[in-house]
Order: sequence, then C-alpha cells, then structure tokens
Amino acid sequence: MTAADQHQESGKFPDLRGTTRYAASLRLSVAPMMDWTDTHCRVFHRLLAPHARLYTEMVHANAVIHGDRSRLLAMDPVEHPVALQLGGSEPELLAQAAVIGAQLGFDEVNLNCGCPSDRVQAGRFGACLMREPALVAGSVAAMIEAVSTLETPVPVTVKCRLGVDDDHRYEVFRDFVDEVAAAGCRMFVVHARNAWLKGLSPKENREVPPLRYDWAYALKRERPELAVIVNGGIATQEEATAHLDHADGAMLGRAAYHDPWLLHRLDVAWFGGQLRTRGELLRALRPYVEAQLARGVFLKHITRHLLGLFHGERGGRAFRQILSEGAHRPGADWSLVEAALAVTGHKEQAAA
Ligand SMILES: Cc1cc2nc3c(=O)[nH]c(=O)nc-3n(C[C@H](O)[C@H](O)[C@H](O)COP(=O)(O)O)c2cc1C
Repeated sequence: MTAADQHQESGKFPDLRGTTRYAASLRLSVAPMMDWTDTHCRVFHRLLAPHARLYTEMVHANAVIHGDRSRLLAMDPVEHPVALQLGGSEPELLAQAAVIGAQLGFDEVNLNCGCPSDRVQAGRFGACLMREPALVAGSVAAMIEAVSTLETPVPVTVKCRLGVDDDHRYEVFRDFVDEVAAAGCRMFVVHARNAWLKGLSPKENREVPPLRYDWAYALKRERPELAVIVNGGIATQEEATAHLDHADGAMLGRAAYHDPWLLHRLDVAWFGGQLRTRGELLRALRPYVEAQLARGVFLKHITRHLLGLFHGERGGRAFRQILSEGAHRPGADWSLVEAALAVTGHKEQAAA
C-alpha cells in the first residue's frame, strides 16, 4: 500500500499527531500571511485562540532547504498546532522541504496553490498551479511519500483558489481537487474566489474577484470525505459561524490580523472557556515579550502584531499610535506596552 493509499484509507483528515486538539482545530484557523504571520504573531494569536490552527508565512521549498532555517522556520512550542506553508512546484524539493518541516515539529505541511504575485508566477508556483493539477498531485504524492517515512508523519494539505482568470466552471475546480485528493491530500483550504493572474495586484486579488462560497460548500457536499476549510472575506463572528454549517472550518486572514480580539471571541464561542479582556490577554503576553527582549529581539518586531487589539474600541487609535511611535526607539520595553494600555481606559487593570 502506498503512502497515498494509507492517507486515503484513513477516510478523514488524519489525526497523525494523535491529538484530538489537532482535529478540533480544523474548525478555526488563521491564514498564512507573508510578512505578517511570523512566529511572534503566531504566539500572540495562540494566546488569543488556544484552539485555532495557525499557519506560517509561505516559505519557498528552496529556502527551507538552503536558507537560514533558524530565521525562516522559527517556531515557539506554544504555537502548536501550527502548519508550515510551502511554495514551490518541484516535487523533489517540496518533498525534502516537507520532511525538514515535519522534523522541526510543524504539525502540517500546506502547499500554496493560491498566491497570485508576479514573482510567484515567474517561479511557476502559487495560484498558477490551479492550471496544473497533475503537477500538484505529483508534488503532494512526493511530499506524502517522504513524510510517511518519518516517525511522526504529518498531513499534507493544499490551499487553493477556485480557479484562475476566466475559469468559471465548478467542474474544473472539482477536477483539480479530485486529482490532488487521489494523490492523498485530505484537506483543502479554499480561498473562495478566482485569482486573476493578469492585471490585478496581489492585494486586488484578495478583493476584486467575487467570492463564491457556494463552490466550497458544494465540494464538501459532494466530497464529504475531504476536510474543506472556507477562506476569504470572513469578517465577523456571525459570518465565520455560518460557514460551519457547510464546511469543516473557517480560516480568517485579514480580519484576524487587524482585529485579533475577534479570534479570541470565536475561540471562546466555539470551544468554550472564559472570555478574557483585551488588557488581560495583552498582559499574558508579557513573559514572552520580556524573554524575547532579553534575547535581543526588538520590541517593534512583536508590537507591530498587537496594533489591532483595541480595534474599534475607545482609545484604540492612541494605543496603536503609542506602540508604533515608541516601539522602534532604542531600549523600548514592556513599559511602553503598559503606557499604550493605559490610554485605552483599561487603567483599572494596570500592573501593581
Ligand atoms: C499580507 C498578506 C499576505 C498573504 N500571504 C499569503 C501566503 O503567504 N500564503 C497564502 O496562501 N496566502 C497568503 N495570503 C492570502 C491569505 O492567506 C488569505 O487567503 C486571503 O487574505 C483571504 O482571506 P481573508 O479575506 O480572511 O484575509 C496573504 C494575505 C495577506 C493579506
């Protein structure tokens, strides 16, 4: 039996790390976002959403193999469950990179078939792979084969679009998924819009092509054995919750980053637990921040991810301003975060 068959046989998304926490975390995830979801960001998101699945920024397979892993693949143990997202389209390289990721402790390896940037197109990976299902299937098969030899294999998953440019046939999308699923992939994160490879910037590609959640829902209905995660444009707790009626999970990108307390509310609503205030959550990050400062990390590298914590709240703008203006100054430390917190009206919780 091949590794792909074993993957198939398990019938549902394999819980290969043996933790129910991982399986449960299919429901809520934070999208991979270049320059944003670095390890500091993920540690913060983990604190807010103890049950969510987190994704790294995309790292090209070549960089995983030849680059500075301590920087590119930095990960804190509190981040689990955390997936490494890979870019690339050469099966051999992707397989090697997947093994490295799994050995470093990532809980899932995800292949990017959704990024539309020119750089990515020139390298023939990202969204243009939607037009090359056989290559994606070959890559996924090679990755699964390679990680299956490890003591702790990890799931290999795909994040894709609905199609590229003027592909407007659901059947083409489903055929893509079917071919990749036949290679052993059991989970698809569907950014539920097309990528337009000509004439739209990556930013516009996250906004302009219309969202078609119904395609993701149809996929789940027709292929119930696959885990289907819906992504794209989910902005509120209500919207995220509505997706759970039709799919296995909701993945939030920009909304989670710009309004991180939304993540906390979703985690509590879906998994239980006590709702904590923004101030409490911020203070809970203090030991991490101080440990990082002691290692020589600059405060600004962490606080840039915290700016949205008081999004839409009284004092939210001042909180943001104090952190962004002060965090790059030499010697900036936790006291700056306390000063920012103080202007939000959360003074009553000020540290003794
Ligand atoms: C700044 C930024 C960087 C992104 N980088 C990646 C990436 O590295 N890999 C990827 O698959 N998607 C990337 N995306 C796309 C997101 O993962 C997500 O699919 C998209 O933003 C739609 O979800 P949202 O509407 O919840 O933000 C990025 C998005 C943003 C805003």
